[in-house]
Amino acid sequence: MTAAFAKASASQALVLAALIWIATTLGVSAPFDSYAFVNSVVFAQGGQFPAGAGDPLPGITPREFEDFRLGLDDFKSIEQPSEGLGPLFNGAGCAACHNVPVVGGMTPMTEMRAGHRDADGKFHVVGFTTLFQMFSIPDHRCQAVMPPEVNVIARRMPIPLFGAGLVEAVADETLLALEDPFDRDRDGISGRAALVTDVATGQRRVGRFGWKAQIATLLTFSGDAYTNEMGITNDMFPLEPLGGISQARLRECDLVKDPEDFVDPRTGKRAIDNFEGFMKFLAPIPRGAITDEVRAGEQVFAAVGCASCHVPTLTTGANRSAALNRKTLALFSDLLLHDVGTGDGIEQGAAEQNEIRTPALWGLRVRRPLMHDGSAATVTDAIGQHRGEAAGVIERYRAASEPMRRALLAFLDSM
Ligand code: HEC
Ligand code: HEC
Repeated sequence: MTAAFAKASASQALVLAALIWIATTLGVSAPFDSYAFVNSVVFAQGGQFPAGAGDPLPGITPREFEDFRLGLDDFKSIEQPSEGLGPLFNGAGCAACHNVPVVGGMTPMTEMRAGHRDADGKFHVVGFTTLFQMFSIPDHRCQAVMPPEVNVIARRMPIPLFGAGLVEAVADETLLALEDPFDRDRDGISGRAALVTDVATGQRRVGRFGWKAQIATLLTFSGDAYTNEMGITNDMFPLEPLGGISQARLRECDLVKDPEDFVDPRTGKRAIDNFEGFMKFLAPIPRGAITDEVRAGEQVFAAVGCASCHVPTLTTGANRSAALNRKTLALFSDLLLHDVGTGDGIEQGAAEQNEIRTPALWGLRVRRPLMHDGSAATVTDAIGQHRGEAAGVIERYRAASEPMRRALLAFLDSM
């Protein structure tokens, strides 16, 4: 392709983006895509998606909208082995696991992590990482195998990405101010910030993404997921996942030269930059109806102490993008690591075996099942599983009157 053509198509794309942006901000929404079929089967509300689900953040610029749109395209695309998919993989596209109720959400399936716990209770990674991919490309010689020393196996649910850019924009100091690792206030609840080295920037940061808060930024998550979920290597994560097989075996199946993600000359971006753009500007799911019962339930939520971990709002720091700059997000999470007795036995990033990051409760009404391993079918089941640091709070919840507990559920159903 000639440079002149490339330039023309880039500026045409921007004009198109501006037009779609105007249409979107005027409330004219485009129909979604074939994933909507999957969604309407999986998400049992008669195909009724909450208004605004999948929209970009309000107030973004045409250029930011272009990032969002390009990113959505890449996020939805299905990759082929000839483009680098595999040899080992969990899904052929990001949206394969992030599409309920619309692209960007989750999917009710779990992937597998595993490792070895020794006689002293110490955790060891077996082989390359703790992730064991479910699929392989034909002829399947490189199908993942669990080595015999594996004695810890954990399931993990996908996490929806609505509002992820706002989560990324919360300053580390805000999260550090919430932690109480030694429980100085003696409320039984500690909460630790997950300090990790961010691969994209090389900086020491507070992790906030993933069930173990193992990753700090959306670009790093994009690079990690592209390699580890899809087998598409990139300059940040250049090594193909091994899933218990040998390097020699991998070489027999891995026919595409690494890194498999590259800069598109038309846009100057890698696919992982596009994924970042989509997730950064994807809006949170709007709240459902706020009735008197919902308002009463919010008070119960605070009074029994759910809000100690599921902190109702956080504020983003200074940000170059006006749409992310000093915004309040109703996340209902402190993004810290807690032991609520549900840990999966896997050590990952800064998280210990029994620690899980408090999940955000926004968008709760459009995802099931709940908890990191999908072991709770209902909100009541999820609450019932909390122990450990949450024991005192759960005792107060159980002691609450029937109408109070009903109000609490109405409140959670409005998320
Ligand atoms: C096979 C299913 C699958 C595929 C494919 C997949 N994901 Fe995920 N995603 C998950 C699971 C499972 C988690 C939770 C991971 C964990 O903590 O162990 C997750 C978590 C995330 C998170 C963290 C969100 C948060 O708020 O904590 C981001 C960001 C993300 N995925 C982005 C992507 C991108 C980008 C792609 C494509 C390159 C992708 N995912 C492909 C299953 C998938
Ligand atoms: C000590 C901190 C803490 C307290 C207190 C707490 N939670 Fe949680 N909550 C968590 C953690 C951590 C998880 C994730 C556990 C897992 O996935 O294994 C969680 C998970 C959940 C989930 C499932 C969310 C999802 O996306 O899967 C719901 C719903 C929930 N909590 C509601 C509540 C309610 C309601 C209360 C008060 C009665 C409460 N929590 C009190 C930390 C807490």
